[in-house]
Amino acid sequence: EKGGYEHFMIKEIHEQPQAIFDSLRGRLDAENLSITLSGLEKIKDKLTAARRIIIVACGTSWHAGLLAEYWIEELCRVNVEVEYASEFRYRNPIISSDDVIIAISQSGETADTLVALENAKTQGATIFGIVNVVGSSIARISDAGIYTHAGPEIGVASTKAFSAQLTVLLLFAIKLAEYKETVSEDLRKELIKELSIIPEKVKHILDSSIDNIKEIAVKYQHATDFLFLGRGYNFPIALEGALKLKEISYIHAEGYPAAEMKHGPIALVDETLPVVFVATKDRVHEKIVSNMQEIKARSGKLISVVTEDDQLAIDLSDEHIKIPVSHEMIAPILAVIPLQLLSYYVGIERQIDVDRPRNLAKSVTVE
Ligand code: M6R
Repeated sequence: EKGGYEHFMIKEIHEQPQAIFDSLRGRLDAENLSITLSGLEKIKDKLTAARRIIIVACGTSWHAGLLAEYWIEELCRVNVEVEYASEFRYRNPIISSDDVIIAISQSGETADTLVALENAKTQGATIFGIVNVVGSSIARISDAGIYTHAGPEIGVASTKAFSAQLTVLLLFAIKLAEYKETVSEDLRKELIKELSIIPEKVKHILDSSIDNIKEIAVKYQHATDFLFLGRGYNFPIALEGALKLKEISYIHAEGYPAAEMKHGPIALVDETLPVVFVATKDRVHEKIVSNMQEIKARSGKLISVVTEDDQLAIDLSDEHIKIPVSHEMIAPILAVIPLQLLSYYVGIERQIDVDRPRNLAKSVTVE
């Protein structure tokens, strides 16, 4: 059942090219560079008129939501808020019938997310579900939605469900931008083209980086803390990298926006602290390179996920993992892959039951 792999987690990491491909299939037409999303069509008027979009989720799905906020605001010029379901449901939020709520959930059964949606629905909001499990409670409560086609995810750590969520959320953002006419045809087509080749690029990362990542895992497995830093589109990926490492290796890790370092966490940096930078080339690249220099000046160990032709970042880093050149909005979908692998191999070195880490449940059906 593990298809020759030692654990479900690594099997599911390797299934990502297929999960992404399946999530694009029938939706993205690579020949005509167009997108068809019948789920979105169903609430087109509501969505194009929405005053704001509120994304509700937990854990890794919340990280997907955070990246979606950056994408949707950039492409669709509409306000987006991203909420932890557990906070949203208890805080008497202001919701109206002009709001569209996007729920993101692999299982479709997360209790906090489900109740948050029930509450919002009573207040007249439209619910759009991005769910992996067909017919699940969140799928059923949604007015419309798009399924991720990641297939069953058995490992407690969400991996292929996350990349499938990102794929669907970016499809959503591009299509909504088309409806709202907030993006040029050129950019839209460029993004569609880039989306269509993500499966190949993910496969390339899986084929080329594992030996390198295993060595990094062996070298840093005894660290007591890790920092994960990113900016812009890569900030949610830094959070996700830290969450994966905590879950799978039991090493304390924190994700931060790189520039927030100066406001406190930089006090932690010394020669024992590995700092993982998600530093692919994008509009804030120069800024993150100077954050890397700041860490280096304080003797922190730099482990970077970089664009393959970025010699400057490579030279600065103690360890680097390369990902293919991509549009800045696409790069985060690729950048998470090495971080999943890093947490897996650190967990393996530390002899942790990576598929069933302590204290965690695959689906959190109690609050
Ligand atoms: O099934 P859901 O997507 O609603 O689950 C949300 C979180 O419980 C889940 O993503 C959790 O954080 C994972 N263990 C992360 O790897």
